[in-house]
Amino acid sequence: MTSPVTDLTLEEKASLTSGAGFWFTKPIERVGVPELMLTDGPHGLRKQRVGGDHLGLGDSVPATCFPPAVALGSSWDADLAYRVGEAMGTEAAIEDVAVLLGPGINIKRSPLCGRNFEYLSEDPVISGVLGAAIVKGLQSRGVGASLKHFAANNQESDRMRSSSDIDPRPLREIYLRGFQRVVEDAQPWTVMCSYNRLNGVYTSEDPWLLTQVLREEWGFEGLVVSDWGAVNDRVAGLAAGLDLEMPTSDGRTDAQLVAAVRDGSLDESVVDVAAGRVLDLVRKATESVAADIAGPVDVDAHHALAREAAARSIVLLKNDDALLPLAADTSVAVIGAFATDPRYQGAGSSQIVPTRLDVPLDEIRRLADGEVIAAEGFSIDADATEAQQAALRDEAVAAASAADVAVLFVGLPARLESEGFDRTDIDLPAAQLELIDAVVAANPRTAVVLANGGVVALPFADRVPALVEGWLLGQAGGGAIADVLFGVASPSGKLAETIPLRIEDTPAYLDFPGEFSHVRYGEGLFVGYRWYDARRMPVAFPFGHGLSYTTFSYGDASARVAADGDIEVSVDLTNTGSRAGREIVQVYASLPSGSVQRPVRELKAFASVDLDAGQTRSVTLTVRRADLAYWDVRFDSWVVEGGDYELTVAASSRDVRSTVTVEVSGDDVSLPLTRESSVAEALEHAEAGPILRDALGRAMGDGADELIAMVGSLPLGRLSMFGGGHEQTQSLITAVLDAGAKPSA
Ligand code: BGC
Repeated sequence: MTSPVTDLTLEEKASLTSGAGFWFTKPIERVGVPELMLTDGPHGLRKQRVGGDHLGLGDSVPATCFPPAVALGSSWDADLAYRVGEAMGTEAAIEDVAVLLGPGINIKRSPLCGRNFEYLSEDPVISGVLGAAIVKGLQSRGVGASLKHFAANNQESDRMRSSSDIDPRPLREIYLRGFQRVVEDAQPWTVMCSYNRLNGVYTSEDPWLLTQVLREEWGFEGLVVSDWGAVNDRVAGLAAGLDLEMPTSDGRTDAQLVAAVRDGSLDESVVDVAAGRVLDLVRKATESVAADIAGPVDVDAHHALAREAAARSIVLLKNDDALLPLAADTSVAVIGAFATDPRYQGAGSSQIVPTRLDVPLDEIRRLADGEVIAAEGFSIDADATEAQQAALRDEAVAAASAADVAVLFVGLPARLESEGFDRTDIDLPAAQLELIDAVVAANPRTAVVLANGGVVALPFADRVPALVEGWLLGQAGGGAIADVLFGVASPSGKLAETIPLRIEDTPAYLDFPGEFSHVRYGEGLFVGYRWYDARRMPVAFPFGHGLSYTTFSYGDASARVAADGDIEVSVDLTNTGSRAGREIVQVYASLPSGSVQRPVRELKAFASVDLDAGQTRSVTLTVRRADLAYWDVRFDSWVVEGGDYELTVAASSRDVRSTVTVEVSGDDVSLPLTRESSVAEALEHAEAGPILRDALGRAMGDGADELIAMVGSLPLGRLSMFGGGHEQTQSLITAVLDAGAKPSA
């Protein structure tokens, strides 16, 4: 039973707003308030048994390790994300966990971010749609989500202090947009503030972020919890809208709250609100369906879901001459340390003890009828000598020469990427690069399978016929890779982040990770594909790219504006190949006539479509009107600009299949004219414009247009510098300002 805040003493209320130990809220036995457990997350349950060493792996309860976000993001599949959320919710409910700390939806600003494996995409629509689906799935099982890390936590370097210095437009349009969508569409029970500062203010004590934006603008109804150790000033945090400090402060900060109320520097109502939200969370958790979910976990069913999700997350980057799928009777050389010792999740607080682990080599043996020859190929040990690597390489070359096809498992060793630090380059270790060249020379029929949480440079991409991006795929990744290699599953994943050619090409290259605890987001709106497209730069593989074992053709798109202002884009999609497959249809928008800076095209909608061989389906995708808006700094609000929008139906950001133009009426916004308004702005004003134009015409005759071109930027107040009589000019200005006192219709 939970009790209203009014039944509690000030000390009890304060005590509710910080943790007991690492993972629990405090109970208040006197009035029957139970403790709650909040624990990681985000791609499975990491419930430590007792105490817990925070990052330790050893003592957590086995749980299904689903594909980490880097993989799930590449599925572009909201239904799948929901089902994964649901399964994680079931496991959490069985373990009496009230809140699972995820999903993490920070934007992948730079490939160097050590924690990119925990994030979904470089694009806010994917992050928002999939993030909302995970939250809904989790919460359908009566377990709360914790949407994290709010906000602008896009690097690990100096993460507990660094200020992410971001202009309003990119902040709203890129870094907050996904969070807004998840909050508005899915109402997570909790939001976790991040460690960093945002424009100089710790997010844990930023009233603008935690209250104005999150609650007042987006309507968030849940509780804000700190990232573990993110609290800088508890009193300021509470006042700003941070409800729950985690982990425990051993009562020290609770005492600060009590003292602040007593000395009048903090209103007790602020403590009431925060404590009330904790009680609300307790009520939701105790009254939820979770209470009725009984164990044991169906480990087999969840492993099967993890395998399906992993297979849908794999991205087939390249497949010349249909090298893949392999025929069952092909002889295969399986090369590379990751074939027997798979990397399947990243390091840090998200590390799960899996219920079981598929090993790629074993799974390949299960599906292959032909001979399978294994070779280690390289050592991931940083101390391995060149001679040791050369010996492994020679052995691998011999294996590759003896088989019909070589499948080469390469990737980033675990030590190179983790929570807590960023990478300094995007290169695979030299021994692996040398191995790839040697194996391809020995057997040109080579497929390379990558294991990596952050993108890696692929200098060998032109030299290998088949390339499979296997990310970190969770505990069933080995089986999923075998399924894809042998065509049990047709790949359908697409890149949720661009694979660049070089780190030097990447948008944040010159502004990452910042210095002296400030990182300036100098690339502005131009994150990920928005950058490469605006600068017309070549990339290794573009955002949205991914092949299938079948082919798809697109018909001509059509679009209509629905009554609510959203736009429905329809297109016929045909599977033109000889086997079933799944295509991710993407819709991008652009506004060529736009008056503000915009990316060349931006993703606005996507759908995952299953088609049998030869089948055609009409697919309709909804582009939300709100997603066409840009953040207008003059009004401090979203504005949909009117005009002819080009909606591009595409198979990737660089594989446009059909474009349709649709006229969208703009939001009714304009500013009244002032003496600071320019001549050009005044001329555009419906009422004031003709008055000014007439006056200029009378004064200048045929030269008026030339004058306008020259003085268009002149503020109205300074018109008199062009002579024409002071009084006359002043009365013209007054007439123009009177006519322009109301915003232009
Ligand atoms: C991480 C969070 C995590 C928390 C609890 C922090 O270090 O940033 O993502 O949920 O620890 O383990």
